[in-house]
Amino acid sequence: MKIIGTGSAHPKCAVSNEMLEKFLDTSDEWITERTGIKERCVISSEKLEDMAVLAANHALENAGLTAADIDFIICSNVVNEYVTPALSCIIQGMIGATCPTVDINAACAGFIYAMDIAEDKLKCNKAKNILIVCAEEPSRMVGWENRSTCVLFGDGAGAAVVTQGDDLKAIRLTTSSLTDVLYYQRRLEPTPYIDKPEEFEPLVMKGREVFKHAVTNSCRDIRKLLNETGLEANDIKYYVLHQANRRIIDSIRNFLGVDEERVPHNVERYGNISSAALPALLDELNRDGKLQKGDKLVFSAFGAGFTTGACVIEWGI
Ligand code: ACO
Repeated sequence: MKIIGTGSAHPKCAVSNEMLEKFLDTSDEWITERTGIKERCVISSEKLEDMAVLAANHALENAGLTAADIDFIICSNVVNEYVTPALSCIIQGMIGATCPTVDINAACAGFIYAMDIAEDKLKCNKAKNILIVCAEEPSRMVGWENRSTCVLFGDGAGAAVVTQGDDLKAIRLTTSSLTDVLYYQRRLEPTPYIDKPEEFEPLVMKGREVFKHAVTNSCRDIRKLLNETGLEANDIKYYVLHQANRRIIDSIRNFLGVDEERVPHNVERYGNISSAALPALLDELNRDGKLQKGDKLVFSAFGAGFTTGACVIEWGI
């Protein structure tokens, strides 16, 4: 697998910490100190598929391909307006592709899960070019009266076009069924046969537990991958980590013992945009000209489930 194009898109409505202070018992100081987040972009008049299509088209353009060149689309998404059809079907039609598509939900680790699936398809020649689109709107999962969760998230999309190649050096996925630390239940229609009371609430998160799992598991995954590839921590140009919280990012960096400049972040501008965070940050690095052919990159993400994904890539464009 080789990444040949990246793209991203963020909603136009930027919500600062000061704007949240107007309706929540919170402060810019608390949010900045505990999370590093200053602002997040949330969906207002646009739709999630619009963000996804913008990101996908940027990635196609960056790869020098058109939708007709794509053999398969993988969309990573936790929630969107439609349960069915899959968001990937909607994106396929909007970009004018005709290939098969599938949605996956590995929460915030979705981009790495999608890369793993893509790698397998490319390896056995079932596809030549695959479009991965991560599109997320966690702002529709949180309760906007709950200061513990709503300040953390933003919406957005990130995309990558991958083709056959040898740039994915190692990849590691893990899932452990820890369903009570972070969950969001979908409201289902009543039926004449359901007699138990059903209660639905916005996203539930045990923040401290998530924090612990995030740091422990990311460090474990990264160390295993470095070991497997024979690389030292400082051989890696950039650690592209899930953008959930600046303190989580800094803790992982400290445990690994790497310099600040190797760990880029944009969580301060976008908050946590779930699986879109990694491809969106990668796109920023790519467009800012910060990636050189041959650079070694580590990606690492964690999410509800609990899922983790990490990989080592040699940048090839
Ligand atoms: N403003 C002001 N006070 C707040 C806010 C807020 N926005 N949110 C919580 N508080 C209060 C709490 O009510 C609590 O008050 P109390 O002591 O009077 O009860 C106090 O601050 C401390 O709350 P904690 O939850 O213990 O604060 P903590 O230092 O753990 O920080 C945080 C909370 C930021 C959520 C942290 O635990 C964290 O980042 N966890 C990881 C979250 C995460 O990464 N989630 C997503 C990962 S997976 C995915 O991406 C889907």
